[in-house]
Amino acid sequence: MEMLTYKFNESDYLYTQLYQYIKHDILTGKLQHQEKLPSKRKLSTHLNLSGTTIEIAYQQLQDEGYIYSVPKVGYFVEDIQTINIIPESKVEHHLETESQNQVSLKIEDSHIKSFPFHKFRKYARDAFEIEQHQLLERGDVQGEIELRNEIRRYLYHSRGVKCENHQIVIGSSTEQLFSLLTKILGDCSYILENPGYPLIQKVLLENNKQYQYIDIDHEGINAQNLPDNGDIVHVTPSHQFPTGVVLSAKRRTELIKWAKLSPSRYIIEDDYDSEFRYKGRPLSALQGMSNDKVIYMSTFSKSIFPSIRCAYLVLPESLIKVYQQMSKPNNTVPRHIQYIIASFMKDGEFERNINRMRKEYKKKLERVLTEVQKTFNDYKITGNDAGMHFVLETNEKVNTASIVMNTINDYYKGENPKYNKQYIIGFGGIEDEQIHEVISKLRP
Ligand SMILES: Cc1ncc(COP(=O)(O)O)c(C=O)c1O
Repeated sequence: MEMLTYKFNESDYLYTQLYQYIKHDILTGKLQHQEKLPSKRKLSTHLNLSGTTIEIAYQQLQDEGYIYSVPKVGYFVEDIQTINIIPESKVEHHLETESQNQVSLKIEDSHIKSFPFHKFRKYARDAFEIEQHQLLERGDVQGEIELRNEIRRYLYHSRGVKCENHQIVIGSSTEQLFSLLTKILGDCSYILENPGYPLIQKVLLENNKQYQYIDIDHEGINAQNLPDNGDIVHVTPSHQFPTGVVLSAKRRTELIKWAKLSPSRYIIEDDYDSEFRYKGRPLSALQGMSNDKVIYMSTFSKSIFPSIRCAYLVLPESLIKVYQQMSKPNNTVPRHIQYIIASFMKDGEFERNINRMRKEYKKKLERVLTEVQKTFNDYKITGNDAGMHFVLETNEKVNTASIVMNTINDYYKGENPKYNKQYIIGFGGIEDEQIHEVISKLRP
């Protein structure tokens, strides 16, 4: 055989470079199956490398199955499928990081300073420390029964949602569950709030579903405006996305009456941030008024943290029957995560955490509103009874150039000049000590 000749540099350990060179030659077919490699001593002399360097490189190649050794004979190339190696691009790869310096008032921002890591850590540790072999198996496609049981109890006490465990389906996001829902609902046409949550339209487009938008007003969606040819209406009644309007009691009853007019009609109630109500008693969920006509959905993104990726659906009995008969997708939330959330809820830590967060966000909201008052003369605030954003309407000039933020118009289909002057203030992500600086910056 030809003696192996390679060029070495100082960018990496010599044994790593040698290992890479030989591996490359094997993968590209330059070194063929059963070909004998030079002895360690000969290669060491030829390449002017120490015996240890050759030894480590050969050992690694052997450990990874590229070569094998025959005692007292030498090293040989294994039977490896050759591949065409595409040279790695010379372009340097930079890890994308978000701009840290840009001030943001985006609706989805959150900054959970008081998150009880120590409590959460205990449940996370239990999930792995106790050898729960069953958690290593694929779980229930609908979600762990322990978690569904906790969700049911929580929803009943805090939101007036009436359901049984078998009506709950757990998934990794509102988007994923809504997509599943479109499959359960089959061939029907949707009605969406305008302005509204953009992901709903995205899912409908992806699933080739028909939909139309209906303008909302200061009381939310009006059932009298719903078209006869629509079956399913998606609403955010406890804190309309993005206006923050709370659907009035009268409109709620009208909406339920509308749904009851036809067996194919349903209301999807997206209760995404209902835990955070700052004034008066929270209005119960629509689902509690009509559990056969309302499909309830919510998420742990706001009530625990956004990266937890866990949300849930509560289906009416009629739709559970359809779901049970369809080919159900596997559950998308890891069982350990479901176990951790269920334990967090069972011990009451979940509710204690929400209470703590509610207080924290309420204080933050008050501070932000005080700063808004100092900054603007002519303005109106709406949608500030709940959630982590409100709407600031003003004719005064607002500095949108250096602050990442949206207007209601960004979520509106069509033209409505008033929405250009309605600025969404997502206060969830501003740190207390930044409030003055950020809000005062809103005026150029
Ligand atoms: C209207 C609405 N629904 C649902 C969600 C939560 O979505 P996910 O469960 O994907 O985090 C949000 C998040 O901001 C939302 O604004």
